[in-house]
Amino acid sequence: VPLATAADVARLAADTVEALVRRRTGTERPAVLGLATGSSPLPTYAELVARHRAGTGPSYAGVQTFNLDEYVGLPAGHEQSYLTTIRRDLTDALGLAPEQVHGPDPSPDGLPEAGERYEAEIEAAGGIDLQVLGIGSDGHLAFNEPGSSLGSRTRLKTLTEETRRDNARFFGSPDAVPQHVLTQGLGTILRARHLLLLATGEGKAEAVAAAVEGPLSASCPASVLQLHPHASILLDEPAAARL
Ligand code: GLP
Repeated sequence: VPLATAADVARLAADTVEALVRRRTGTERPAVLGLATGSSPLPTYAELVARHRAGTGPSYAGVQTFNLDEYVGLPAGHEQSYLTTIRRDLTDALGLAPEQVHGPDPSPDGLPEAGERYEAEIEAAGGIDLQVLGIGSDGHLAFNEPGSSLGSRTRLKTLTEETRRDNARFFGSPDAVPQHVLTQGLGTILRARHLLLLATGEGKAEAVAAAVEGPLSASCPASVLQLHPHASILLDEPAAARL
């Protein structure tokens, strides 16, 4: 869906999240949300928080959230840990308790089994209803860099130099960005019932065009969206410029 501005993207994305949460309120299994970190979803999260504070949002009682990915090697509670950022940017303000908010566990002891454990947690919650996604400038989804297997599950990965450079703005310098991460696989992401990719700004135009109109290929991980029966892509005008 091409929209005019990033604010339009945020409003439509927030509508989509709230509609799901409302639909599942009072059912046996409240909504299970998959959340992306990074800068793309921040206006959407701010919109959800503003509506919640204004009293117009849904109840988030019983809602569970699952992050897409996590850095490995940061001290627990580090301000750039994705679990810390999602709580700060969204879930604390929506009133979710820490037990409702999940992410891959990067503690060094359990690293080899961390992927399998996270897959089991998602499964136990009933699977992800709506997965919010951003896209990397190299076409990555979560931290599935180009070359990632299309059927991959949650596992340990090494970041490319491009992604470490892109994310240096959060850490001060590329060298301070961790080299390793845990990330849901492309196969994990494809199991969510609805995918909602958000992209804004001209820096994403090329990756968006490759994902939507290019061949299905591991060299553009986001092209897996072409395989999903219910994938929505919300773009502002600059991000849609190459379509
Ligand atoms: C980051 C995250 C992804 C995110 C993407 C784009 O490295 N791991 O989940 O979607 O890259 O980031 P941004 O939205 O800041 O451009």
